[in-house]
Amino acid sequence: MSQLPDQVACSGFSRRTFFRFAAGASALAGMPVLTEPLLAHAARPHFTDPNIGIHIDANENPMGPCEAARQAMIDIIPRGGRYLFPMEDEPGEIFAKQEGLDPESVIPFAGSTEPLHYTVLAFTSKDRPLVIADPGYEAPMWAAQVAGAPILKVPLADPRGAAIHDIKAMLAASSNPGVIYICNPNNPTGTCTPRADIEYAVANAPKDTILLIDEAYVHLCDAPRSTDFVKEGKNVIVLRTFSKLYGMAGIRMGFAIGRPDLLAKIVPFGGQNSLPITAVAAAKASLLQPDLVATRKKKIADIRNDTLAWLKSEGYATTPSESNCFMLDVRRPGKEVQAALAAKDMFVGRIWPAWPNSVRITVGTPEEMAAFRKDFTEVMSSNTAGLTPAPLPRRLAEHPFTHLS
Ligand SMILES: Cc1ncc(COP(=O)(O)O)c(C=O)c1O
Repeated sequence: MSQLPDQVACSGFSRRTFFRFAAGASALAGMPVLTEPLLAHAARPHFTDPNIGIHIDANENPMGPCEAARQAMIDIIPRGGRYLFPMEDEPGEIFAKQEGLDPESVIPFAGSTEPLHYTVLAFTSKDRPLVIADPGYEAPMWAAQVAGAPILKVPLADPRGAAIHDIKAMLAASSNPGVIYICNPNNPTGTCTPRADIEYAVANAPKDTILLIDEAYVHLCDAPRSTDFVKEGKNVIVLRTFSKLYGMAGIRMGFAIGRPDLLAKIVPFGGQNSLPITAVAAAKASLLQPDLVATRKKKIADIRNDTLAWLKSEGYATTPSESNCFMLDVRRPGKEVQAALAAKDMFVGRIWPAWPNSVRITVGTPEEMAAFRKDFTEVMSSNTAGLTPAPLPRRLAEHPFTHLS
């Protein structure tokens, strides 16, 4: 990267902080405003009052931030009157060192939603489609709508079995995609796409197509990480978040990982914002806990596997999840079951139009999953015909940028 101007170099701004600020100054003026009709086709999550009932609807981590992260946030609060810009680079530097990455290829954001949105805005257009698996995480589609880009949904391969990305069909969907989005493990199915298939995508995508590999849930599975493609200089941007395994969804921290020249194209869309210092402190502390990932991964896997085994013993089909969510085939309109469970203050995830008879279940605590089994048994032995979820609360219904999880 070129030399920073002197006044910036002397002011305590790091290179990357400066980079984010400088880039952010130019791009926002051209962004179109999302309107409700534009988003109408996307299923909207029915988030309800988190203080009422059991919420296994948003792929959150009920454990919350680890002890070290909590303490780090408490300790930084007295300094909350400051921006503390130089501190922003610390989590990315620690992460880069741990992963053997060039620190210039890691940029922090307040969650991974931001870089996801910006990557799609930067690399898709009316002539450069977004290719995405179906069912898949919808947020990239919302961004593609903003960019005016065609959205090419490709059904998952082997939907009743492995339910993985159909990489060859995704590559065949367009001769010049702007972005091919691969979510590994996939939300909502929790399934991992084999490494060989992802390698095939990297090797065979058109040369100026970006593979956006969303690893929001990767800590929960054994799948090989895709950060090595960045080290090899490929056209790959990897997303990581602290919202899932690290239990920091409400604290907001994530990374975009990619070649610096690719990152330079996404930061203009939002690189001017500074990060919450509590999130920076908590992320740093979390990364420095040596056993955190392994311990939490096992805890969540044990609860998930118990739940999947119970559902199987009851005769229900689920996706073979390696994550903190899975799709459950309820053999009737999923929205009826969702509504019947909600009437018991048991809130489960949304329905994807491609799989209308399935609902997404998030893995909660053992107590929450025990309550789910009881409520689910009762609902499935009752008549749910005609039930529909309550209308969206006003804030969500009127807010075009509703967060997805
Ligand atoms: C696949 C995937 N990517 C990205 C996100 C965004 O998460 P956050 O902005 O909290 O990092 C989510 C949230 O659930 C997700 O499921």
